Amino acid sequence: MSTRLPVVVLLSALAACASQQSPPRPAPPLPKTGSAYEAAASIELPKREAIEQPGLHHVYRLSDRIVSGAEPEGEAAFEAIAAMGVKTILSVDGKAPDAATAAKYGLRYVHVPIRYKGIESEEMLAIAKTFREAEGPFFVHCFHGQHRGPAAAAVGRVVLDGAPREQAIAEMRQWCGTSKKYEGLYGAIAFGELPTPAATEGFGFDFAPAHGFKGTRAAMVEMSRSFETLEALAKNQWKPLTEHPDARSLGEAERTLRALEAVASSESLAGEPADYQGWMRESHDAAKSLVELLTRLEQGDAAAAAGAVEKVAYLKKRCDDCHKGYRN
Ligand code: HEC
Repeated sequence: MSTRLPVVVLLSALAACASQQSPPRPAPPLPKTGSAYEAAASIELPKREAIEQPGLHHVYRLSDRIVSGAEPEGEAAFEAIAAMGVKTILSVDGKAPDAATAAKYGLRYVHVPIRYKGIESEEMLAIAKTFREAEGPFFVHCFHGQHRGPAAAAVGRVVLDGAPREQAIAEMRQWCGTSKKYEGLYGAIAFGELPTPAATEGFGFDFAPAHGFKGTRAAMVEMSRSFETLEALAKNQWKPLTEHPDARSLGEAERTLRALEAVASSESLAGEPADYQGWMRESHDAAKSLVELLTRLEQGDAAAAAGAVEKVAYLKKRCDDCHKGYRN
């Protein structure tokens, strides 16, 4: 029949189209014979250097469709990302992305903040859905582009590119340099359930360019405002600041303490590593004694001033120590 050939052509065209559009089923989890970090050395990848450009660091092109890197800084960085052909930027950092600058270069931002201890199931669904339903190629970043960003990119390597799990974690370890400390991130990719196409299709997610943590991040932002003022006041020997004459030391210390209490009492803290919990506890205790010292100072006990200055320095050290390990 003369109609037969066109039907066959049409069917094969449809099949080709469908195979291009329906994402692969994620490769099965690896057997848990050791740590996920060890499994990331089970295959040896050829050496690769990061691509470095102004404002854009630690960049690795993992596939045609996925690039991993650090947070883009400034216009030139977004321009370079657009020049790579990228259409969507996925940020897994806590900070709200610079979606306005990205938009100038035709780039869409999707924001799914994750933590260092691993990827929670809703976060995983949002990340997988982004890879499957937003327009690629994708640039995936956290802050330094070493730990959380590469883990999210690895999700894309499995759910979008159909890469085997051992390949995806090998890229995290051998190229991007994800630290051994973040076994939770490795484990999510090596051993975790990755959502099926049906699961991401049914998951409600708005692809918004700015999401936040309900707890930690909001508290950090709040705390940094009051703590900065406290540092300025401490430097000024607790005398009023010319640039901010309304700032009261005690009030700022109380705000800092409240923010720390919010983090220290949150359920999620229990899942954090011991050093993290330690810094949080020490910060909380230090903020509490700072409030006591500044109360005494307000009541006229001038001897409390020096101790309060020391407490601020002690607190600052805790912020920095914790950020070194957990905010990169
Ligand atoms: C025990 C750990 C810990 C301590 C102590 C700590 N932080 Fe943080 N902080 C974090 C983590 C983790 C993040 C990253 C949150 C994210 O990006 O999702 C963060 C993020 C921040 C941010 C960025 C928020 C944003 O916009 O994303 C600021 C600002 C900040 N911290 C200020 C402070 C200050 C000021 C102190 C000390 C008074 C402090 N932090 C103490 C763990 C800590």
